[in-house]
Amino acid sequence: MGNKTVFPENFLWGAATSAYQIEGAPREGGKGKSIWDRFAHTRGKIADGTTGDVACDHYHRWPEDIRIMKELGLKAYRFSVAWTRVLPEGKGKINQKGLDFYGKLVDALLEAGIIPFVTLYHWDLPQALEDAGGWVSRDTAKYFADYAGAVSKALGDRVKHWITQNEPSVVMSSGYHNGVHAPGIKDLSIALPVSHHLLLSHGLAVPIIRKNSRNSEVGLSLAIIPAENLSSDDVKDSEAARSFDGYFNRWFLDPLYGREYPHDKVEEYKKGGYLTKTGLVFVKPGDYKIISSKCDFLGINYYMRMLLRYIKNVPGFNWETVKPEKSRYTDMGWEIYPEGIYNALTRVYKDYAPSKLYVTENGVSFSDKPDRSGTVKDARRIDYLEKHFAYAERAVKNGVPLRGYFVWSLLDNFEWDRGLSQRFGIVWVNYKTGQRIIKDSGYWYKTKIAGAY
Ligand code: FCB
Repeated sequence: MGNKTVFPENFLWGAATSAYQIEGAPREGGKGKSIWDRFAHTRGKIADGTTGDVACDHYHRWPEDIRIMKELGLKAYRFSVAWTRVLPEGKGKINQKGLDFYGKLVDALLEAGIIPFVTLYHWDLPQALEDAGGWVSRDTAKYFADYAGAVSKALGDRVKHWITQNEPSVVMSSGYHNGVHAPGIKDLSIALPVSHHLLLSHGLAVPIIRKNSRNSEVGLSLAIIPAENLSSDDVKDSEAARSFDGYFNRWFLDPLYGREYPHDKVEEYKKGGYLTKTGLVFVKPGDYKIISSKCDFLGINYYMRMLLRYIKNVPGFNWETVKPEKSRYTDMGWEIYPEGIYNALTRVYKDYAPSKLYVTENGVSFSDKPDRSGTVKDARRIDYLEKHFAYAERAVKNGVPLRGYFVWSLLDNFEWDRGLSQRFGIVWVNYKTGQRIIKDSGYWYKTKIAGAY
């Protein structure tokens, strides 16, 4: 990148992980059970029958992982705190050992010159709260704010970058609508109040974190999936694309940026019977104000676009997704579409004008493993990252205030319902021995980062 780069000075090149996907040690240090501990152990839920019980064993191997980050020259590291390490029952008594674990991690990162970005909720709701209603219950938003308070109080002197929620749209869609993620519910009429309580929990936590962590930045990460119509001259296809965009993107962006839930979707959901005739009964007076509490940045997670074709007039769901034959796909079956990151960044900036953006996740699953010499030649990942970086750079050129980029993921890890079968890391992990090997993409990234400053 050198002098030619348009990425601003001090651009934060980093990598990301999340607690359940890497930590293992589900019963150590006083940790309580989360909905993912339960879900992964439920027969039939995880494609390859694995669980996150060991995963990358990061709970024990974190010093080595920080050494790897240092070796790669990462400027920042995004990880999540497991709610159940801090509050085993989700509320009530704080488990000091849990806070100490993250305190040590943060100290070691700072010592290594790496800026910690802390995500507070990356999908691992305490099972005890789930048993009391989970995100369907409004109380959970309040418990989340208390938890955010406990963590920001303990770490807020050293952590200056906070992400409240990770991808509430995926919690809504995969956790509560199609049910492939914990807690495995398949009901949009439940998923809608859940989405509201997730947004509310974010809004309630923002001022608390700010108070506990002076001069810090607070935001959240949204998965943005640009919706494109299959045929650009077909009015119906563009209606389908708009409908998907409303379901997945606008439903979250609008209330976060001072609008209400998109009226087109509210009407469709009423017609489809997902909302009662009276509509958004779960939205209480003052909620919109809380949710739109000003953030310092927005994190964007980008993996794919969605290409849509109109099918029939099913209220709220008049689309079908199309997989273009000519495209290339990752091992997850996701289409590789680098210009989508440009579209996501520029669209969000144009329509919502966040003052600062980070790509808080972008990366790819390819299963390349060590060859005889012990090297992981993941050329396809290098190509993927190079192209996505270039499109992100183009967005910066066009005025998008992008200030950092976190590759998903630092390590191969437990990919939710796909288990250990999908490898997103720039570092390869042997799940039997815990051994780590920096992949070629990791060394490539190291060179990129070094050349960028
Ligand atoms: C995102 C999740 C992350 C990881 C990637 C592949 O939706 O936030 O944990 O699973 O997808």
